[in-house]
Amino acid sequence: MSTVKDIIGVRSFVMITGASRGFGRAVALELGKVVGAGSTLLLVSRNRADLETTKEIVRDARPGLAVELESIDLATADKTTFTNVVRANYGSADHEVAIVIHNAGTLGQDGRKITDLTDISEMSVYYQLNLFHVICLNSVFKSCFTRSKMVYINISSILALQPLTTWGNYCGGKAARDAVFRVLAVEEPDSQVLNYAPGPLDTPMIEELLADEKTDPVVRTMFEDLKRNGSLLRPADSAAVLIALLRKQNFKSGDHVDYYDNIAKDAGGSTQ
Ligand SMILES: NC(=O)c1ccc[n+]([C@@H]2O[C@H](COP(=O)([O-])OP(=O)(O)OC[C@H]3O[C@@H](n4cnc5c(N)ncnc54)[C@H](OP(=O)(O)O)[C@@H]3O)[C@@H](O)[C@H]2O)c1
Repeated sequence: MSTVKDIIGVRSFVMITGASRGFGRAVALELGKVVGAGSTLLLVSRNRADLETTKEIVRDARPGLAVELESIDLATADKTTFTNVVRANYGSADHEVAIVIHNAGTLGQDGRKITDLTDISEMSVYYQLNLFHVICLNSVFKSCFTRSKMVYINISSILALQPLTTWGNYCGGKAARDAVFRVLAVEEPDSQVLNYAPGPLDTPMIEELLADEKTDPVVRTMFEDLKRNGSLLRPADSAAVLIALLRKQNFKSGDHVDYYDNIAKDAGGSTQ
């Protein structure tokens, strides 16, 4: 178990990708409530108007908190983009803690099985958005903060560990991200690294999946059942568990922790 200093409640620079809606918005709101005085949230996604809405929600809960927005397409962003974006927003870079939360993600499924996938350009776009940019941003983030405690969070999924028919890209991307973050934890022993699987969430991602007529029938039934049974989690509830884990730090750096794991319950977040 890690015994590093607090990473919640101190002066922090927090970068959250995919903060314009869904889980990213919930994480921004919940973290915005608990970061220390003088902290900055940097919210990133493509849709500027939706980012503005997230900012309003965060500042309603935490008036005066510095919330910066950057509209970036993570499928094409590179080292220069990330360097410019982080440097433009981090001020003096003397924050006690620097946290990057890799939340942006896409399904990359449309009912095709893995043996239907032959277009390497298409796969490259998927993996650039869901894997490659994450590796690049972590490296840039580390280079920008030399005096801060570093915290790297991968928003993972149970599907990093389990297969789901027609979700070859999604499972492949999530599994690879987990592996990369485990390596990061080994290489950066003074940092905190977490692969957090947030559980099945009631977000636009699931609405889009159900609206897509090409969605595989097995997958459709699975998510329709989750919705009908009321088993989709409120993003705010899962975000609260993530923050409880960061507060307690009762995980080993690099671990994959699921919303439903005992360790999440022990942290004081999940009650299910
Ligand atoms: N929903 C679930 O049941 C579930 C379960 C387990 C794990 N997760 C994971 O949790 C994370 C968030 O999921 P969610 O359900 O909140 O998804 P969502 O509602 O679809 O939101 C995805 C976010 O990613 C951003 N994004 C997508 N493509 C982008 C791009 N090219 N460049 C920049 N930003 C981009 C979107 O913003 P813009 O459109 O503004 O760019 C949006 O803010 C994902 O990593 C997902 O895999 C979700």
